[in-house]
Amino acid sequence: MIPPEGATSEDVKTVTERAPAKERPVRVNVQGLEKTYRAGEEDVRALGGLDLTVRDREFFCLLGPSGCGKSTFLRVLSGLLEKDAGRIAVEEPEANRPTSSMVFQEKGIFPWKTVIENVAFGLKMRDVPVARRREVAQRYIEKVNLEGFEDAYPHQLSGGMKQRVDIARAFANDPEVLLMDEPFGDLDAQTKRQLQEELVTLWQERPKTVIYVTHDIEEAVRLGDRLGVMTDRPGRIAELVDIDLARPRTRDNLDLSRMEALQNRVWSILEGVTQSPHE
Ligand SMILES: Nc1ncnc2c1ncn2[C@@H]1O[C@H](COP(=O)(O)OP(=O)(O)OP(=O)(O)O)[C@@H](O)[C@H]1O
Ligand SMILES: [Mg+2]
Repeated sequence: MIPPEGATSEDVKTVTERAPAKERPVRVNVQGLEKTYRAGEEDVRALGGLDLTVRDREFFCLLGPSGCGKSTFLRVLSGLLEKDAGRIAVEEPEANRPTSSMVFQEKGIFPWKTVIENVAFGLKMRDVPVARRREVAQRYIEKVNLEGFEDAYPHQLSGGMKQRVDIARAFANDPEVLLMDEPFGDLDAQTKRQLQEELVTLWQERPKTVIYVTHDIEEAVRLGDRLGVMTDRPGRIAELVDIDLARPRTRDNLDLSRMEALQNRVWSILEGVTQSPHE
């Protein structure tokens, strides 16, 4: 790859490392997405012409003021909710693979199913033979460090363990696109950090396109390849930021001053969108 004219050595490194991601095909293409809730007397326009493209295997983080339509966007993308207008194109997955899987904050697993039944659920729905189901579910249970809890029920698990089940379930399902709605929002800082690392490891082993909603700027910068900040409701993308931090972003490898600069930039974008609602 030829560095652009006038690039510094730092830029060259960044450009070279990031080039493959930028050259990958677009996986999710959203244009002019509109969604209005018709509840009682008042209509609530949640999404107001949202445009976004996310590339294959990109880890994309979405931030925005509370109530700006982030969850609505993920639910429309996943097909849980119907759109009013606009276009969503998700490139077709291989045969017998789901297009997307959603990970919620504490709500994604069935309380009446055991850990292994929860993790294998999507495979069962796709008629994967039982032996194969168990094998795949067991593998992901081990990857999220829940070995020994296969037959436990969710009420017997901590919040962090439940989120691990949900992540294992999503990866076992092997979707093309993983949609995550504040999956670690309720967890303590240490558990959150552990799960972030496990998630990134899984994503690197089994790359897929991730759209990850969070309120936490530090988390978005730590995890993402790129992030988008949404406007206040009705939501659309206000600004996109490339997160040019090398991976692995381990403690000894993380460029802290660059990370801080990125976080400050996102802070000021968020301040801007909350101060001047555009409607
Ligand atoms: N089922 C619903 N019926 C009516 N209004 C709804 C419904 N779900 C969401 N809304 C409204 O739509 C807007 C967007 O909600 P949404 O949950 O998408 O926001 P969000 O960005 O995910 O917020 P948060 O950051 O607090 O999770 C809000 O004003 C909300 O009150
Ligand atoms: Mg939400």
